[in-house]
Amino acid sequence: VSSKIPSSVMSSSVPTNEFASTNSNPSNSTLPRSVYTLKPTAQLEALYTIIRDKETSRGDFLFYSDRIIRLLVEEGLNHLPVVNKSVVTPTGSTYAGVGFEGKICGVSILRAGEAMEQGLREVCRSVRIGKILIQRDESTALPRLFYSKLPSDIASRYVLLLDPMLATGGSAMKAVEVLLDEGVKEERILFINLISSPEGLNTFCNRFPRVKVITGWVDQGLNEKAYIIPGLGDFGERRYCE
Ligand code: URA
Repeated sequence: VSSKIPSSVMSSSVPTNEFASTNSNPSNSTLPRSVYTLKPTAQLEALYTIIRDKETSRGDFLFYSDRIIRLLVEEGLNHLPVVNKSVVTPTGSTYAGVGFEGKICGVSILRAGEAMEQGLREVCRSVRIGKILIQRDESTALPRLFYSKLPSDIASRYVLLLDPMLATGGSAMKAVEVLLDEGVKEERILFINLISSPEGLNTFCNRFPRVKVITGWVDQGLNEKAYIIPGLGDFGERRYCE
């Protein structure tokens, strides 16, 4: 170790693998085939550690959850098709590359999903964004559609469905039903969330096996109030209220 490195920037406890998370997602082989997780690096886990911490301020929660959302949106876009495209560079050479194919839109499940819209806009300029409000019907205990506003040509688009927490999967499944009723093909839907429960993932993926799920972290499970454990509490409360 160089003596020029000030001790203040050195870690006192050096992990055995300093770039890998020590608390990684379940291996992909135990997840449904349609589920894609972010690479569980120590950096990613540090972001999650901040947003999970109940002492984290609202400002930090916003900043660090936004960083994760951007990573998730980029990962989601990796699953969209491209076509061959050649361009001429300023050196006069031809570069045989690829270009984006097909139109996309975002659809947020209100209210927590709205928090993911900005991250999508930062990555996809002028993206159209629809909204779906689903709430539990107290008489039936089932998720019920209260409101939706979707792009009129949504059936011809790839849809990035946004909701930060996949708990039981009830709202997400209802939202996918709404999209299918609008003519969107199941395989054109990408469901993007920050944290999933294994139960929610299994229920959702069994029902809609052709929807790709992009999730940042798969947690242990659900508690009796259907909160994800360890989770981060109520995402909407932490983002908008605390
Ligand atoms: N929604 C949340 O905000 N948190 C959970 O743990 C589950 C659903």
